[in-house]
Amino acid sequence: MTSGLRRAAVAAFAVAFALASPARAQVLGPGDRLARTPPMGFNTWNKFGCNVSEELIRGVADAMVANGMRDAGYEYVVIDDCWQVGRDSATGRIVPDPQRFPSGMRALADYVHSRGLKFGLYTDAGRRTCEGRPGSYRSYEIDARTYAEWAVDYTKVDWCNADSLVARTQYTQFRDALRAAGRPIVFSICEWGSNRPWEWASGVGHLWRTTGDIADRWNSFLRILDASSTHARIAGPGGWNDPDMLEVGNGGMTAEEYRAHFSLWAIMAAPLIAGNDIRTMADSTREILTNREVIAVDQDSLGTQGWLVAQPQPDLQVWMKPLRDGSRAVALFNRTEAPAEIAVEWSVIGLAPGQATVRDLWAHADRGRFTGRYAATVPAHGVVMVRVAGRPSR
Ligand code: GLA
Repeated sequence: MTSGLRRAAVAAFAVAFALASPARAQVLGPGDRLARTPPMGFNTWNKFGCNVSEELIRGVADAMVANGMRDAGYEYVVIDDCWQVGRDSATGRIVPDPQRFPSGMRALADYVHSRGLKFGLYTDAGRRTCEGRPGSYRSYEIDARTYAEWAVDYTKVDWCNADSLVARTQYTQFRDALRAAGRPIVFSICEWGSNRPWEWASGVGHLWRTTGDIADRWNSFLRILDASSTHARIAGPGGWNDPDMLEVGNGGMTAEEYRAHFSLWAIMAAPLIAGNDIRTMADSTREILTNREVIAVDQDSLGTQGWLVAQPQPDLQVWMKPLRDGSRAVALFNRTEAPAEIAVEWSVIGLAPGQATVRDLWAHADRGRFTGRYAATVPAHGVVMVRVAGRPSR
């Protein structure tokens, strides 16, 4: 790394620390303790699209208990688009699909709660959802009240068919409707970064998408990583950049690539919302999604979004997230097509020269004490993720 780049990395480090805990408005009013760490859960969209049903949701909730995901921290079970079929013309209430949700949403929420989990629903701030179902425009209050009656804990609000509307205004109105409904509901803003939400969404929502939709491909993962990471400084407890849901286990990437995807989402303090069929996933997928050492990085209570601190060679990168106990999570990230050695220098992660201890979070192994730097061979399209504990340089 050139000394100029090193100076820039150290300066970025200092700035990020200075801004690490921005005072932010309470999204749902005084006393809001929601999303103090990035929300974790499951959402139907990436794998199931419009093929949603109460049977699927019950099965997912059961699986999250049985396969250890709940105990690893996954909490919200969220139905994305296509659960709604109309709006009652007399009452104005949204109507769930009676074929796919014959027991009704309250019964389904109760079931999810009985499994020790929380329940989420999708809607759209515009006139129709992206799949053409009824949106919430002009119905924010009644929808918020209805969700509260149904014991909903999380709502994702999309931005299709909202052309003439102003995102900040509409999402603020939606937040106020949720506030008035009086139930603590995590508010997930999904306008794909099209209206610069990093400038206004903190204090309006608990999380906000920063980009367009993820696809189950390596290049999509990279594009979103690079875009979302530029907004790191705005993230913190109660308000998170959302680089979109996980594709881990959906089949379009290798296990190595999925480990990289999961690791970098954790470095970015991203919401960890599984998007695969967790009822039937392979053990190798479950091991990625339930890696507690990587999850602990994502969920660290300092709540700082990590960032790129060094690029010793093109496409060989060092990412770092400072943690509450003073240690640093580091991802050595190889974006190239061949294995390569990547080193992290203590100076670029804010540690004093001298010894620091290193633990590998995928190997689940202590690597020992190292002086000044740690180097590892990183597989193609892979990561080595470590936790480095040493003396801070200031
Ligand atoms: C948009 C959102 C996706 C998903 C779909 C549903 O594309 O960005 O995450 O909710 O709509 O139609």
